Amino acid sequence: IFDKETIESCIHFAGLKAVGESVVKLWEYYENNIAGTLTLIDVMRKHNVKNIIFSSSATVYGDPAQIPITEECPKGQCTNPYGWTKSMLEQVLTDIQKADPEWNVMLLRYFNPIGENPNGIPNNLMPYITQVAVGKLKELGVFGNDYDTPDGTGVRDYIHVVDLAKGHVKALKKIEENPGLAIYNLGTGMGCSVLDIVKNFEAATGVKIPYVIKPRRAGDIATCYCDASKAEKELGWKAENGIREMCEDSWRWQSNNPQGYEE
Ligand code: UFG
Repeated sequence: IFDKETIESCIHFAGLKAVGESVVKLWEYYENNIAGTLTLIDVMRKHNVKNIIFSSSATVYGDPAQIPITEECPKGQCTNPYGWTKSMLEQVLTDIQKADPEWNVMLLRYFNPIGENPNGIPNNLMPYITQVAVGKLKELGVFGNDYDTPDGTGVRDYIHVVDLAKGHVKALKKIEENPGLAIYNLGTGMGCSVLDIVKNFEAATGVKIPYVIKPRRAGDIATCYCDASKAEKELGWKAENGIREMCEDSWRWQSNNPQGYEE
């Protein structure tokens, strides 16, 4: 591709991304995510392409030192190999930019994207809910209701995948200004609990979601949401969709594609 096309910037999305799976298939995660990225960087430098936008994750903050999480918040201990691959790759890209200031490296730390097509039984909350709604799964298990949060269930910063995509377009614009190394949280800045999501989904779609309270899931943290003001100030980007739109759009997709894209 690099031989054939004239490329100015790369948006590097590719990577394995299932947290639980990464604990078991850790070799595959380190090999694919780390080696794959090193290969891409090698091809980039051989073709003198020095602009990269990297899909990172809020997981690099570990159990965050402060809420809301700003980009200055120190990185933490990841609880799984997937998270470590993101954290290590941030370091690799940071070092490359330091060694050669002609590089522009943008690390986009995604919070909880809504609107991906899962393979098999979903691990993530929203695809699990939509599959319960469509009748593929019996009920939602809520992983813990004894966290130190307003209703006891885990709080996250859910972001519509279309807003996330628009954030990348803004990042591409920004890279033309030669920012060097730049790090941005991509989230809404609003925390939503598991039960908030269930209630909003029911209100948006009119479909009831049966749920049972289960024990906490290993490696989960209580609360994770960002301070999204840096991206707004420097990229001119702000999430436009709220939880209502995320529920409506997820349900529209799931009800039109009951078997996902597998069919
Ligand atoms: N949850 C349930 N039941 C489920 C699934 C999830 O109660 O069946 C709860 C979780 O305990 C958590 C919340 O819903 O409180 C969100 O869980 P997700 O699995 O949807 O998302 P995570 O916050 O665990 O993980 C996401 C991404 C990871 C990323 C991480 C960074 O999936 O790629 O955010 O914080 F690393």
